[in-house]
Amino acid sequence: MDREAELRIIRAAYAKQILAAARADNPRLEAALAAIRREDFLGPGPWPMLRGLGEYVTTPDADPVYLYTDNLFGILPERRLNNGQPSLHARLIDQAPPAAGEHVVHIGTGTGYYTAIMAHLTGPSGRVTGIEYEPELAARARANFAASSNVDIVEGDGTAIPFDQADVIYVNAGCTRPAENWLDRLADGGRLILPMTSDKGFQAAAPERMASSGAVFRIERRGHDYFASWISAVAIFPCAGSRDEVSERALADAFEKGGWQKVTRLYRGEEIADERCWVRGPGWCLAYD
Ligand SMILES: C[S@@+](CC[C@H](N)C(=O)[O-])C[C@H]1O[C@@H](n2cnc3c(N)ncnc32)[C@H](O)[C@@H]1O
Repeated sequence: MDREAELRIIRAAYAKQILAAARADNPRLEAALAAIRREDFLGPGPWPMLRGLGEYVTTPDADPVYLYTDNLFGILPERRLNNGQPSLHARLIDQAPPAAGEHVVHIGTGTGYYTAIMAHLTGPSGRVTGIEYEPELAARARANFAASSNVDIVEGDGTAIPFDQADVIYVNAGCTRPAENWLDRLADGGRLILPMTSDKGFQAAAPERMASSGAVFRIERRGHDYFASWISAVAIFPCAGSRDEVSERALADAFEKGGWQKVTRLYRGEEIADERCWVRGPGWCLAYD
C-alpha cells in the first residue's frame, strides 16, 4: 500500500475518533475530517505538539501520522498561537453545521485547517470567508487556499471588517462581548459560535479553571431575536477588537456567580432587567427567559 493510501485510512480512523470524543453524530463532518489533510495547513514538520501543562513537544519526525490525534499544534508557537483541538472544533462546528451552499465567515482562520473543513461542508455551491488578524498567518492561509474557488482569505480585524451576510459565523478567539458587526451580519436563521472568556481564560489547562473562565455560546438569529445556549467550556487565544475592560469585569463576575448553562437569550440594548441577566455589558446582555 502506498503512503497516501495508508494516510487515507489513518484520517478515516481519526475522523471517527474525533467525532466520538466530540459526542457528535454527524456523517458529513466525519467525512470532512477524513478528507482534509491537516499536514497541508501546519507548515513543514516536525511539528510542535501542545501537551500536558502547556509545553510543546516536537514530533519525532515529519510523518503526518502525528497530526491525526486530538492534539493542538503550534502555528506561531512563540506567540502560543495554535491549530485548535480537533474534538473541540468538531463539537462547535456540529452545533452550527454549515449546509451545502451556505456562506460561512470564520473569524480567526489561522492557517486555515478548520476553514477547509467548513469549505468541505459548504461545498462548491457555498463559500467561506476566512478573516485572520495576524499578517503572517493570513499570508499562509491565503497561500494554502490559492487553488480554492470557494474560500476567500481576508487579513484584518474580523470584528470590524464588513462581510456579506453570513449563515454561520464561527469565531475562534475569546471575546468579552459580541461584536456588533457579527450580530448585524448574521442572516435570519444564521448561527454564531461565540467564545466568551475572562482574562483568566487563555492559559487555563485544568478543566475546572477552564469552566470558570471561558464559555462558548451558540447564538441563533430569528428576525430581531437572538436565541442563545451554552455549548462548551473553553480556553482560547484572545480576540482582538472584541474585548473591553467593562465587559471583562462583568464577565469575570458572572463566571464567579455561575449559571451560564441556563442562558437562553442574547439581547441588544439596555432594557432587560438586571435580575434576568447572566452578564451585562454596554448595549448587550446574555440573559435568561
Ligand atoms: C486560537 S487561534 C486559532 C487559529 C485557527 N482557527 C486554528 O485552529 O488553526 C485564534 C486566531 O484568531 C486570530 N484572531 C484574534 N483576534 C482576531 C480578530 N479580531 N480578527 C481575526 N482574527 C483574529 C488570531 O490571530 C489567531 O490566529
